[in-house]
Amino acid sequence: MSEFLEAMAFRHACKRFDTEKQIPSEQFESILEVCRTSPSSFGMEPWRVIVVRNEKLRKALKASCWNQNQIIECSELVVFTTDNDTVRSDSPYVRKMFERRGLSAEAVDTYLGVYGNYLKPLEEDELLLENWTAKQCYIAMANMMTYAATLKIDSCPIEGFDKEEVEAILDIEYGCSVAVMCAFGYRVNPQSEQKRLTLKQIIEYR
Ligand SMILES: Cc1cc2nc3c(=O)[nH]c(=O)nc-3n(C[C@H](O)[C@H](O)[C@H](O)COP(=O)(O)O)c2cc1C
Repeated sequence: MSEFLEAMAFRHACKRFDTEKQIPSEQFESILEVCRTSPSSFGMEPWRVIVVRNEKLRKALKASCWNQNQIIECSELVVFTTDNDTVRSDSPYVRKMFERRGLSAEAVDTYLGVYGNYLKPLEEDELLLENWTAKQCYIAMANMMTYAATLKIDSCPIEGFDKEEVEAILDIEYGCSVAVMCAFGYRVNPQSEQKRLTLKQIIEYR
């Protein structure tokens, strides 16, 4: 089996982490590097990541995350946040992200035009825009979890939380948003059985 498929088989949504085991810092930094190098729509890299290590914050978060043990037991807790204002088509950030490609001024304007057209319906609805940036975070998170599994590091994606409460606890700036979280660490219990539909059930060729 390829290393990638082995990692896919190793990864599961880990519910109980070993509180005695910390991820070595170099390995955790390499997981963060996988976030940094993940792809995003138009290359906007809309994620801003908070690594929550503070015990008091973790305790407060747990109560707002369906009381899930992973929040306090994991070695590293990663919270993905986004900011609608940053990715709006008239934001200086967006222009800079296109300019860094070394394009001509004309090409940058063309990109901005395509981007603006694509984003127009999303910009008319804050929630749609927020969902678009959140989607990018999920790609990074998935890469990080699979990569972590190659290092025999467990993870649990976490969507089960009260968004407003979490944003208040983390003092997320007005207009910014928490997209999703991910706990990393080491399992205590054996891996749960991977239940999946068959290829036949999910793939259709036309
Ligand atoms: C985006 C996302 C959010 C999730 N949120 C939670 C969560 O809040 N708590 C939890 O225990 N599992 C969570 N899960 C784990 C799923 O329940 C799990 O991946 C699924 O049941 C398949 O099991 P497996 O990952 O162990 O193979 C989440 C998974 C994804 C992809």
